Amino acid sequence: MEKIVILTGAGVSAESGLGTFRDAGGLWARYDLEDVATPQGYASDPALVHAFYNARRADCLSAEPNAAHRALARLGAEWPGEVVLVTQNIDDLHERAGQPRVIHMHGELMRALCAACDHRWAAPPEMSPATACPACGGAAARPDVVWFGEIPYRMDEIAAHLERADLFVAIGTSGTVYPAAGFVQEAAEAGARTLELTLDRSEVASLFDESRLGPASALVPAWVAEILSTAGVSRR
Ligand code: OAD
Repeated sequence: MEKIVILTGAGVSAESGLGTFRDAGGLWARYDLEDVATPQGYASDPALVHAFYNARRADCLSAEPNAAHRALARLGAEWPGEVVLVTQNIDDLHERAGQPRVIHMHGELMRALCAACDHRWAAPPEMSPATACPACGGAAARPDVVWFGEIPYRMDEIAAHLERADLFVAIGTSGTVYPAAGFVQEAAEAGARTLELTLDRSEVASLFDESRLGPASALVPAWVAEILSTAGVSRR
């Protein structure tokens, strides 16, 4: 049975109330990316960076998974082949919807990382430059997220999955940030069919075999029901 590799972006969590980055009024219209999402920004004003991610964490804690997250979890549980879900999102809504094995290539808001000793632990709701590392005691705690200029996590593993994918599906991502924006090309070159489910045509829409436009909460459950029915898995 087919191996499906799914890439999600901020659009999948938009209907849970979490803002996207580049839509009108998105996070990068309200904050300077250089200030809050780069190692240089953290070095020059760690308190500002913590405040930004504390606000993201509070939003995430008050949000709930939506129909798109739940449908993808259903696919993960019921698809007779393999489903690999790679997300650029740092929220935990896929996990809370019950998704098995999420690959967080841009890290996780709910995890903390010690910049001094690389120890990782569950992030407290509020972090500050004084937050101490439970392993080394140093005050170099940062959110365990990947900033611009840093290398996304688990890239070798993701490349191996793309190499063996039969179907690649990108959901709710603008296709502007690499390396994730290049996954469609990698999957297509490896022989996968490619499908995009998103609100507006992405920057890399022309590289997909098919694009379906609309809100993820409608498109994703419909696509999941469709693909499960082709595999003979009936609707619950
Ligand atoms: P963007 O904000 O760039 O794009 C969000 C995409 O979601 C857009 O293409 C919208 O059309 C689409 N969208 C919005 N609402 C939707 C809905 N209800 N249903 C379906 N689609 C919807 O977010 P990403 O592509 O995820 O990285 O951004 C990629 C990376 O850029 C992020 O991981 C983050 C950011 O800077 C880092 O911070 C390292």
